Amino acid sequence: MSNLYLIGNWKQHGSHAAIQAFAGEWSFDPHAQLRIAVAPPFPYLQALAAALPDCQLAAQDCSVHLQGAYTGEVSANMLADFGCEFVLVGHSERRQYHDETDALIAEKLAAAQSAGVTPILCVGEQQAAREAGKQDEVVRAQLRSALATAQPNLLIAYEPVWAIGTGLTATPDQANEMHEMIRQEVSSLFGASHATPILYGGSVNAENADALFACPHVDGALVGGASLQAASFMAIAQSASNNLSH
Ligand code: PGA
Repeated sequence: MSNLYLIGNWKQHGSHAAIQAFAGEWSFDPHAQLRIAVAPPFPYLQALAAALPDCQLAAQDCSVHLQGAYTGEVSANMLADFGCEFVLVGHSERRQYHDETDALIAEKLAAAQSAGVTPILCVGEQQAAREAGKQDEVVRAQLRSALATAQPNLLIAYEPVWAIGTGLTATPDQANEMHEMIRQEVSSLFGASHATPILYGGSVNAENADALFACPHVDGALVGGASLQAASFMAIAQSASNNLSH
């Protein structure tokens, strides 16, 4: 079995006190093939690294520029300098609230790769597209556009927009089918020898994690709400660890 990835996305949540509480409850059976990272808001990266040396660091976004007069931006080089292993690129909340286009997302992906930070490209359809049966078409277009000039070192997170923060989760079959399509698409771009990890995201929690991790095409999870409390995040980590041990 290949690696499983568990990435917590804290979005715009967190504080020093929350990090201390989270670190105090950090406990699950570690597994050599389980990679865990948390993406706090930028100002908390250092505090998280100090409190949780066993956890890798992820960022929620990066600039398309590597440096310069771009007030408010954080470059992928700076993330690498901080020891960030991963950066989310193209999260649906960035697409929706910050008008990020597929072209911009492709540039961010390239910036992350050139800085040596592994991008986690987020893709996923809106509810209307799912209801119209157009989910494959939408996700394929997002992938082709973001990956046209990309290198193979990345992760992909399939996050159906209708499942993010709503309590609705894609069924394991829906997730698995989409991941299989993504896998085919990625191997047609990079060649079948590149095993790109494909994570599921969208209301993953301690109750549904087992069934999702058991899907053959699901290589991990990107977790928002349930990553904020250590208890639920640790339960998901334990479920990933159990799955690897079977
Ligand atoms: P959620 O968020 O787990 O709260 O649905 C997932 C995400 O947006 O990455």
